[in-house]
Amino acid sequence: MTSEYRSKKGRIFSGVQPTGNLHLGNYLGAIRNWVRLQEDYQCLYCVVDLHAITVFQNPGELLQNTREVTASLIAAGVDPENSVLFNQSQVAAHAELAWVFCCISRLGWLNRMTQFKEKAGKNRENASVGLYAYPNLMAADILVYKATHVPVGEDQKQHLELTRDIAQKFNSDYGTDFFPLTEPLIYGGATRVMSLRDGTRKMSKSEPSDASRINMIDDADLIAKKIRKAKTDPLPLPDTVDGLKDRPEADNLITIFASLADLSREDTCARFGGQPFSAFKADLVDLAVDRLTPIADEMRRLLADPGTIDKVLKDGAEKARALSAPILNDVYDIVGLLRS
Ligand code: TYM
Repeated sequence: MTSEYRSKKGRIFSGVQPTGNLHLGNYLGAIRNWVRLQEDYQCLYCVVDLHAITVFQNPGELLQNTREVTASLIAAGVDPENSVLFNQSQVAAHAELAWVFCCISRLGWLNRMTQFKEKAGKNRENASVGLYAYPNLMAADILVYKATHVPVGEDQKQHLELTRDIAQKFNSDYGTDFFPLTEPLIYGGATRVMSLRDGTRKMSKSEPSDASRINMIDDADLIAKKIRKAKTDPLPLPDTVDGLKDRPEADNLITIFASLADLSREDTCARFGGQPFSAFKADLVDLAVDRLTPIADEMRRLLADPGTIDKVLKDGAEKARALSAPILNDVYDIVGLLRS
């Protein structure tokens, strides 16, 4: 670790899959926190392309998505000078430690992973082994840097609990305190942003309807259209948070507004209480366009020069390799794997 990092509070790792464009859920649940954490922590941010291929990806699209996601992260404020920004497949230590963790982690633990059950659906027998073992790779991503904190949205909580279980079992099997018990950082007003078409479902890249999400690349017209079409209910907005109970769409739109405006949900309800959705949506469109379109514009500018994006990832991977290599070496020593 270089001296500039010694004054930081700890080491952050987090990742995002290049399976499509980033959406508002990724931004409010995770990326915005990543940007703000750069001040105080040594941060490693990873475009997890090895995770993406647990479900088949068209190779050309995967390459393009890796660049697009990287551009979104930089446009949103991840600073490659200050943080280590790279794509996972350029740092072999992730996959190497994942194998060791495949031997530590238990079938019973993986069987409980709700995200596997959701993604595999009814046809579990036909899911890839990679999709099943995915949480072991995720634990390796984090622990190959001995990261102390991991900022994520609510949906990753169970995977982070498993990461702690793996660290604990490794430490106890080998009689060491080598791996830290990583702390999840799940905070900010919008840790679980829901679909614009159905307030009971998570906003997600894999949802077929594009109208269900705001993508970080959407222009002002598209953002306005999607918000105007967003599902609501017939009642006016409530003036207290209690009034959002059993109103998932109202709850979600208030949460999005509050988070984009850096307001509390209480203050947002007090401001719009009694108003019809039409008036509220007009303000939400203005706010979302104001906050999101500068990021999309910057992303388009960056994408015009893919060579620079590739260089950022190459330089980041070099730094990530230097940080992970000694930790992986120590793991191999602890496990008794001969290195000559
Ligand atoms: P991924 O690519 O699905 O999502 C990236 C980040 O965005 C958050 N997120 C959301 N937050 C709020 N509301 C939503 N609707 C929403 N959708 C997504 C996710 O919680 C995540 O923080 N397995 C991870 C990637 C990963 C990783 C890691 C994360 C791989 N290795 C190590 C942390 C540490 C994933 O698929 O995220």
